[in-house]
Amino acid sequence: MTATEPSPAPSGGGGVTDYGVPHVAIIMDGNGRWAKQRGWPRLVGHRKGAERVKEIVRACPDMGVKWLTVYAFSTENWKRSTEEVLGLMSLFARYIQREADALSAEGVRMRFIGDRGPLDGKLRGLMDGIEARTAMNTRLNLTVAINYGGRDELRRAAVSLAAEIAAGRLAPEAITDAVIASHLDTAEVPDPDLVIRTSGETRTSNFLLWQAAYAEYEFTPTLWPDFNPAALAAILAQFGGRERRFGGVKG
Ligand code: FPP
Repeated sequence: MTATEPSPAPSGGGGVTDYGVPHVAIIMDGNGRWAKQRGWPRLVGHRKGAERVKEIVRACPDMGVKWLTVYAFSTENWKRSTEEVLGLMSLFARYIQREADALSAEGVRMRFIGDRGPLDGKLRGLMDGIEARTAMNTRLNLTVAINYGGRDELRRAAVSLAAEIAAGRLAPEAITDAVIASHLDTAEVPDPDLVIRTSGETRTSNFLLWQAAYAEYEFTPTLWPDFNPAALAAILAQFGGRERRFGGVKG
């Protein structure tokens, strides 16, 4: 069997096919265009997008994906209309409230990355609550990026490192890659193996700038509300055939 052919699912139920891609990160793009194509408000696209998040989360463990990180709201997304920003924020709050039981039951540990400072206090409380409630779960690690930007994350890490140096707790020459990584929002999260962006755009848009240094990228024309577990499985199967050398030479 070649690396591009996924192993068949074991018989007798379960249907687990491990593609050997432990951490998938997704830039969920195209909700607005999906809604516009149908003459519907942009928020309808975001609501459909939230349903897709649920399906993908549910499907990941059976594909061998142990870590899933999704880009839900960037530091640049505040430039959108007040109606869209407030609509997205209430969608995040509703998702956390409605999905808490199901996520817990399915063994999902939920984390958030990004600067929580500017977020509404109620949403922050829900985020803290679900992180604490799911902290013991191990089946899937779901990380949601809200008010996240790679540059902003690096800036906040630099501020925190500078403060430690100023306080005499850290020597400048002691700053290694590992020390920087431990000051990022993703300190507890491994680097992504594969970053997928939907909707045909081929930009990284400030997502996981440090963490995705050696990630593979896959750009699919599918709009996020049309993306589903079968589309993810097809990408994972193809990814299995790619050789990752991390800067080394072909073996
Ligand atoms: C980008 O599409 C999408 C967003 C900025 C929002 C992503 C949010 C969700 C998928 C919904 C909920 C998420 C969770 C975690 C519950 P776009 O609006 O930029 O689309 P466009 O480029 O077609 O306008």
